[in-house]
Amino acid sequence: MTKNELIYLLSLEKDENIKELFNAASAVRNSFTGNGIYLRGLSEISNRCRKNCLYCGIRRDNLKTPRFDTDTKEIIAEAKWCYENGYASFTIQSGERTDENFISRTEELLKEIKKIGNGALGITLSCGEQTEETYKRWFDAGAHRYLLRIESSNPEIYAQLHPNDGLHKWDIRYNCLKLLQKTGYQVGTGVMIGFPGQSVENLADDLLFFAREKIDMIGMGPYVLHPDTPLGKKVLDNKENTAAQKEKRLLMALKMIAVCRLLLKDVNIASTTALQALHPQGQLLGLRAGANILMPVVTDVNHRENYSLYENKKSANNCTPTPEDLQKLAENAACSIKFNQWGDSPAFFKRRKNEADNSPSKFRLFKEK
Ligand code: 5AD
Ligand code: SF4
Repeated sequence: MTKNELIYLLSLEKDENIKELFNAASAVRNSFTGNGIYLRGLSEISNRCRKNCLYCGIRRDNLKTPRFDTDTKEIIAEAKWCYENGYASFTIQSGERTDENFISRTEELLKEIKKIGNGALGITLSCGEQTEETYKRWFDAGAHRYLLRIESSNPEIYAQLHPNDGLHKWDIRYNCLKLLQKTGYQVGTGVMIGFPGQSVENLADDLLFFAREKIDMIGMGPYVLHPDTPLGKKVLDNKENTAAQKEKRLLMALKMIAVCRLLLKDVNIASTTALQALHPQGQLLGLRAGANILMPVVTDVNHRENYSLYENKKSANNCTPTPEDLQKLAENAACSIKFNQWGDSPAFFKRRKNEADNSPSKFRLFKEK
């Protein structure tokens, strides 16, 4: 698809056209990855973060958030729970930390989780920008997927969402995606959708970025305000968080899932928790728009409310859904949960095959300016 075609689809407004778009995306999902929905239990292990992203509730300067580290024993128990409930995959997410203590603790944790069911659990990491050496240590310890959202494929827009303090550089983030691919991970990225100043052209560029960079997994969600952040305050001051605006963000996030499915076809696409923050059935709508991954939060209940990236984050007070709840959710979208299956992205195997066919020099490492 050309950029103009992507813009056309993202701009659809009539209910019947949008419905047709979602149905087409579901049909493409069904023929390229099947109608199976795969589970990744999401454990948020620490909300300490060295970054200060202007939109995020656990940014370093938000002193209202009490900081936590989950005990290793508790994390292992969550991973076992996932294994016993047929989740097949476990995702570890944290704020960005680069201290050796965190790096080695995570490494040991990965080795312990790998012992559960003799390597039966797939492990995804979402722990921010790290060095190539750290990515390799964690890969060797058992992680095989990594999520790092680019947030916006446009460096100028990225700069508007982040402080200019030398710690939030688009080039470095992009380079991390390349390092993750080079290390051997299945790599996921994504963007936030609907923050002020973002245009439909920007979103079309984001989709083309995913295609160009041969991304295996996509996690995208609507921007959701957090009142104790600089961006959240600005949006409130400008009265840009009306019910109509939230609905628009939700709809655009769903259209992005659908158009992404039509464009990339065989990637894994998550129906994210941010969708649920804007609509009680947000995750169901994500599946109906072509997503094939659910990431139920399995974080320690004592820490959930302190991992509040944005307001109205449902995991804070809700219990973890049972396997039966999840199956019902999937069936409502004419899908079915694939318990006990990793559900790796077919796009990843295609990329690896292409890489094997070409020389290693194809890895383009972005030079820092
Ligand atoms: N609204 C929506 N998504 C957010 N994230 C952080 N803050 C917000 C927010 N206010 C997302 C970012 C990050 C992921 C872990 O959470 O995209 O990459
Ligand atoms: Fe930290 Fe991620 Fe939040 Fe940025 S978005 S402040 S890196 S947790």
